[in-house]
Amino acid sequence: MAERVKVLLTEEEVDARIQAIGDQISRDYEGRQVHLVCVLKGGSFFMCELAKRIRVPVSLDFMSVSSYGSETKSSGVVKIVKDLDETLAGKDVIVVEDIVDSGRTLSYLMEMLKDRKPASLRLCTLLDKPERRVVDVHVDYTGFEIPDEFVVGYGLDYDQKYRNLPYIGIVEFE
Ligand code: IMP
Ligand code: MG
Repeated sequence: MAERVKVLLTEEEVDARIQAIGDQISRDYEGRQVHLVCVLKGGSFFMCELAKRIRVPVSLDFMSVSSYGSETKSSGVVKIVKDLDETLAGKDVIVVEDIVDSGRTLSYLMEMLKDRKPASLRLCTLLDKPERRVVDVHVDYTGFEIPDEFVVGYGLDYDQKYRNLPYIGIVEFE
């Protein structure tokens, strides 16, 4: 199927918003160290840009999960494909995600990470589609609330394509 990508948020808009979140996190965690947990692959672009803009000490870790279900619809049952390298115990953890859609993946993941006894646990997402929420999930830092459209870019893919776009675009199917 052929598709086109229409710009929803420009590179400048996204960069400015990430700067603002980085400033906010730097203030909120003053005097502490933050441990960023990136959910691969989608969260990776956002996490790198965000980490560069945080002015307190930062450590990073990565995990990869897959939800059983099709690419565009998650089931809420999450399988850990790659677990974190380090423990979370005693750390001030921020989970960095690309997008919260139904909320199924994140609510499951946050509960699981809470069991690992971090000192604190927050969620930061670049994008949020509140209209699509099925499961309640508390988001601490949100880049943009967006309408119920399928988006790509800045780490988000359609069929593994478009992750490298430096902006957020809406996929239009022809
Ligand atoms: P949730 O469990 O429904 O919140 O699913 C979240 C995951 O679905 C995200 O981490 C993305 O991988 C994927 N996803 C949801 N909406 C989009 C979208 O608009 N574009 C690309 N991937 C999406
Ligand atoms: Mg994701």
